[in-house]
Amino acid sequence: MQSTMQRRLWRDVHVFDGLRTLPEPMAVIVEGDRIARMIPMAQVDEAELADGAEMARGGVLTPGLVDCHTHLVFGGSRADEFEQRLEGISYAEIARRGGGILSTVAATRAASEDELFAQARPRLEALMNEGVTTVEIKSGYGLTVDDELKMLRVARRLGEALPVRVVTTLLGAHALPPEFKDDSDGYIALVCEEMIPAAAAEGLADAVDVFCESIAFSVAQCERVFEAARAHDLPIKAHAEQLSNLGGSAAAARFGALSADHIEYLDEAGVAALREAGSVAVLLPGAFHTLRETRLPPIAALRHAGVPMAVATDANPGSSPIFHPTLMLNFACTLFRLTPQEALAGMTAHGARALGLAEQGLGRIAEGAAADLCLWDADTPAALAYAVQSGRLRQRWCRGERQGGTDHD
Ligand code: NIG
Ligand code: FE
Repeated sequence: MQSTMQRRLWRDVHVFDGLRTLPEPMAVIVEGDRIARMIPMAQVDEAELADGAEMARGGVLTPGLVDCHTHLVFGGSRADEFEQRLEGISYAEIARRGGGILSTVAATRAASEDELFAQARPRLEALMNEGVTTVEIKSGYGLTVDDELKMLRVARRLGEALPVRVVTTLLGAHALPPEFKDDSDGYIALVCEEMIPAAAAEGLADAVDVFCESIAFSVAQCERVFEAARAHDLPIKAHAEQLSNLGGSAAAARFGALSADHIEYLDEAGVAALREAGSVAVLLPGAFHTLRETRLPPIAALRHAGVPMAVATDANPGSSPIFHPTLMLNFACTLFRLTPQEALAGMTAHGARALGLAEQGLGRIAEGAAADLCLWDADTPAALAYAVQSGRLRQRWCRGERQGGTDHD
């Protein structure tokens, strides 16, 4: 296609390249769907810029945001549980009483694929309007083979219908469905022997996730899921150490996990395990905030060990009904004490790595990287985490195409 090889130019932009803020204003040139050149303004040769169509002068340019952990597809609402929690009933207690994830399971099972699609679409658009160009969407509210596949199909359809890259994750081992009450090993067998093979056969899952927790599944059960994922060449992730320290992150790391997510209760051994495996620590300040947790993830230890830290919305109806990625940049700083650059790296380069997409040049602004870009109305990249403010996204580019933002085309 001729248009995809168009040469486009941003002039005098402040660049956050996915890992750091570049020290001087830059010219950035895109050819087709790739970044072709990056030149400090002080060194530009005007003749070289002359044949590029100028998209903007000034502003902050970042990679398109990568939201590497969401549960965007679901039925129903859990506003009633929000009220219960405010009255003092804990998230775990609500789950034990059969509410929580299982209440969303009932609503999700009752919804058709089209209904789930229609409900998820505006949630995804909300993320896109705040700069997301890549999003991971998990299943986990179906908990039967058919309902899990239904959720994954909706996630795939969202990626086909909207200008955003969607990565899907099978989260069959999210909660024990009522039909398997008192037989959690039987349910894990279903996940391993039927759900994972079916999702793999239909190409519906890009990864497999588990919830390793006392209110969900044990380390041994999660390891069985990881074995099944490995047998189908699917990478793994884990919800781990969210409410207690069971060692789920270390178990995931032994299977070369892409990431361990939540990790408020991660200990030194868990940090070391993630470092050795090269796994990403995914921080979810929205869930921390919503559940009014007090135990902080071991940020200093992760930083010291050099474990890459991603930041994501965890957008879901229970623990994080938050569809606002730039608010998560702010929360990562205010609640978890990340620096603004760490928070931005968490939603760009490290978010892409948590999805296994770093090699494809996602989450970076570098020569040869994907032309997924956001141009922001801001003075510095740090300002994106500093102010909680919508409407700053001037241009959103996905796969080298202009797909949103407030600037006139
Ligand atoms: O990431 N921790 C478990 N799973 C989700 C919550 C899902 C829900 O409450 O509906 C999470 O927090
Ligand atoms: Fe989650």
